[in-house]
Amino acid sequence: MRQRTVKNLEEKLELNSAFLIDNPRACKGRWAEVFGNDNPVYLEVGCGKGQFIMSRARANPDCNYIAVEGQDSVALRALEKAAEAEQHNLRVFIDFVNDIGDYFEKGELAGLYLNFSDPWPKARHAKRRLTYHKRLENYKAVMADGGSVEFKTDNDGLFEFTLEEIALAGFDIIEMTRDLHSPENERIYETARFTTEYEDKFSGLGKNINYVKI
Ligand SMILES: C[S@@+](CC[C@H](N)C(=O)[O-])C[C@H]1O[C@@H](n2cnc3c(N)ncnc32)[C@H](O)[C@@H]1O
Repeated sequence: MRQRTVKNLEEKLELNSAFLIDNPRACKGRWAEVFGNDNPVYLEVGCGKGQFIMSRARANPDCNYIAVEGQDSVALRALEKAAEAEQHNLRVFIDFVNDIGDYFEKGELAGLYLNFSDPWPKARHAKRRLTYHKRLENYKAVMADGGSVEFKTDNDGLFEFTLEEIALAGFDIIEMTRDLHSPENERIYETARFTTEYEDKFSGLGKNINYVKI
């Protein structure tokens, strides 16, 4: 049983259980069954309160979306958004993802989003960063052909680290910018239309937002 940090959390999760995946590891290899269709499946790791994945799910009804968040109280906010909107192409699960292969078979994901991931600033914690090269390799290992990983961050140091890890893993960069929300880039990059809570906050403060797709 997970540790619960919000009062009546179990009841609140239960209220929205139609959109909650309680045992995501058991869904490995059968996500199409979970959604009841063969539409492409996209995952966001560390979805926070869910603004980004909700707006993607709303804009793309022919795709399926999964939002995972390690903090239950935060995940609840994403879950409540999905339930309130009856967003049937979106599911939420609560876990701190370590090995993505615990939840997905090779070929099961069409894409993966990492948005404003925790920087883990100490050098000795580099392996915990979600863009560590071994993790990138694991993400790519569960992708369908042509599947991509997209990463956005306000943290310039984490972005440079990520570019080094991409090179180390030998992946090609498909798109990249260090200023996603410049007026010109707003027109070029599709992802600029789908912002996260952190993105709105930092971009609103005038901070450049870095973006890379591999
Ligand atoms: C800085 S917040 C960003 C939230 C959201 N993506 C945004 O941009 O507004 C990072 C979030 O990722 C979650 N997180 C960090 N590592 C995770 C992991 N391994 N699996 C799932 N969630 C994770 C944290 O709990 C936190 O809510």
